[in-house]
Amino acid sequence: MGHLNNRRVLLAVCGGIAAYKSAELVRKLQDSGAEVRVIMTRGAQEFITPLTLQALSGNTVHHSLLDEEAERGMGHIELARWADLMLIAPATADCMARLAAGRADDLLTTVALATSAPMLLAPAMNQQMWKDLATQANLATLVERGMHFAGPDSGEQACGDIGPGRMLDPVAIAESAASLFKSGALAGQRVVITAGPTREPLDPVRYISNHSSGKMGYALARAAIDAGASVQLVSGPVALAVPDRVNCHSVGTAQEMLDVCMTLLEDCDIFIGCAAVADYRPLSACEQKIKKSSQEMSLQLTRNPDILASVTSHIAKPFSVGFAAETENLREHALGKLERKGLNMIVANDVSDSSIGFNSENNAALLLWREAEGNGELNVEQCSKDVLAGIIISKIAHLRRA
Ligand code: C5P
Repeated sequence: MGHLNNRRVLLAVCGGIAAYKSAELVRKLQDSGAEVRVIMTRGAQEFITPLTLQALSGNTVHHSLLDEEAERGMGHIELARWADLMLIAPATADCMARLAAGRADDLLTTVALATSAPMLLAPAMNQQMWKDLATQANLATLVERGMHFAGPDSGEQACGDIGPGRMLDPVAIAESAASLFKSGALAGQRVVITAGPTREPLDPVRYISNHSSGKMGYALARAAIDAGASVQLVSGPVALAVPDRVNCHSVGTAQEMLDVCMTLLEDCDIFIGCAAVADYRPLSACEQKIKKSSQEMSLQLTRNPDILASVTSHIAKPFSVGFAAETENLREHALGKLERKGLNMIVANDVSDSSIGFNSENNAALLLWREAEGNGELNVEQCSKDVLAGIIISKIAHLRRA
């Protein structure tokens, strides 16, 4: 069965006898990993109650365009933006006609116009209504506009007729929905990612840190979500919004980052250490602000724990990926780190080029990994951090499958 992990499906139910199958469809979509919200037309509520679909979906059912209360909760535009897929099942002949005409006089048709998400329709109607030239013309219009169709199935109908017009089985509809999304490369995988810098306090107002922006780690979190993984992001202080659907744990020091990572290891299949962890911290942080006195002053530093090395030496060692920022002998130093830190893969950056890497939008990298036949490598030319993140996640998924 395909998957819908991290996908938000807006299921719109129209008024036809097949509406009773929508309850099972909600379940099948959820079994595939989707979060489901439901819209019901007035007709649909004659066949199945909103309460049933509310209980199954775990979300309030939306049915009115002009309900102030509902619009305050999640309005039609928010619903339209929320959806990764709008699925209309059953889609009646009337619904198809109204969509083809571009109407916006109820919640379903308004959201259908307002959403940029792909749309999938599972038609259900009497076989003669399906064959009618008007319905077929509407079908052609909707297909031409890019809408997808699942079914209808053929066979005995509720009205006693035999022919095409039965709503497709809910399992097949859920499959069809899943097939619209390309990458499920990390479906069901639990990924922990560290990102950003750490801050090592000197006194209550000062700290030692670095220029890491966290952009690469956050891009990796987005790419992993896109590939169907569940993502825990352990982030040092950065000025970035937490990506949608990512669980973020904010930390300050390397020790705090280590503590959080260790608690997340129990439920982790893949660990990506992308953070620029401070190698040293002040031996002791002063409780009061340090006063200026003599001309010179020395700081005594002590080594911070190596988070990646702690992860790879842990009993529950996940598939581990590290980063290596180097100013010379990129390949050689990165290979050394791959071995020394017991990693499965390392992403090496040449940080001597200031146009890429730290704090920039772009990056270039050499990916090195271990596989059964020895080491493999891939050189990725300068590209956006989002593109590089996609390449890294695909490579991880490939190695995991192998
Ligand atoms: O040894 P080096 O610091 O160059 O290694 C970089 C890699 O190790 C990065 O993946 C970084 O996130 C990780 N690291 C760590 N804990 C440290 C230092 C680095 O997890 N204390």
